[in-house]
Amino acid sequence: MTPAEASKQARDVCALAPVIPVLTVPDASKAEGLARALVAGGLPALEVTLRTPAALDAIREMAKVDGGVVGAGTLMTPDDVVAAKEAGALFGVSPGSSPRILDAAEEVGLPMLPGAVTATEIMALLDRGYTMLKFFPAEASGGAAALGSFAGPIQAATFCPTGGVSLKNVKDYLGLKNTVCVGGSWVAPAGMIEAEDWAGIEALAVEAAALEA
Ligand code: 3PG
Repeated sequence: MTPAEASKQARDVCALAPVIPVLTVPDASKAEGLARALVAGGLPALEVTLRTPAALDAIREMAKVDGGVVGAGTLMTPDDVVAAKEAGALFGVSPGSSPRILDAAEEVGLPMLPGAVTATEIMALLDRGYTMLKFFPAEASGGAAALGSFAGPIQAATFCPTGGVSLKNVKDYLGLKNTVCVGGSWVAPAGMIEAEDWAGIEALAVEAAALEA
């Protein structure tokens, strides 16, 4: 898969809804209910972070949920990329990027949303052909003001800002010309996942899906 194809597919995923839930799943038995609640609430694109031992099994379970588009986040190594692809992830997200991880994703055909937060990092990814990027950690890196500042000089890049995005600031990001969607964990709080409060999570998804991208 070429970087241009990867970014086209990643942009299509990002355009499905204003918010991609960033999910840390403690136990694969929670995966199906969680995915069903988010998809029913209007958030079809789901990012499962590879931060728990259950993450790959959670991706396998979520990949069976109708209407869901499940990706893997926190990809750090080529092995993570291969494991995510094998588990059925349809896209991959990484906090930054490295040549090794991009090589692996291009080889196995996993559309990547690589992270970048400075003009130099963004330009390096554009040089390689990636135009749909994750802006991470968004709030700590200057927030919407910083991200919006790239829209003038670096018009080829579009973003999914993630990290510290919440209902408090999400409209600032979604109002930017260079932002396609945001990523955030607020739609699936750990306590609600633990309690299997699927109705509560669906309600959070409905609220997030109604935001204007
Ligand atoms: C992450 O990878 O942790 C995401 O950026 C989610 O950040 P958030 O928990 O601040 O939404």
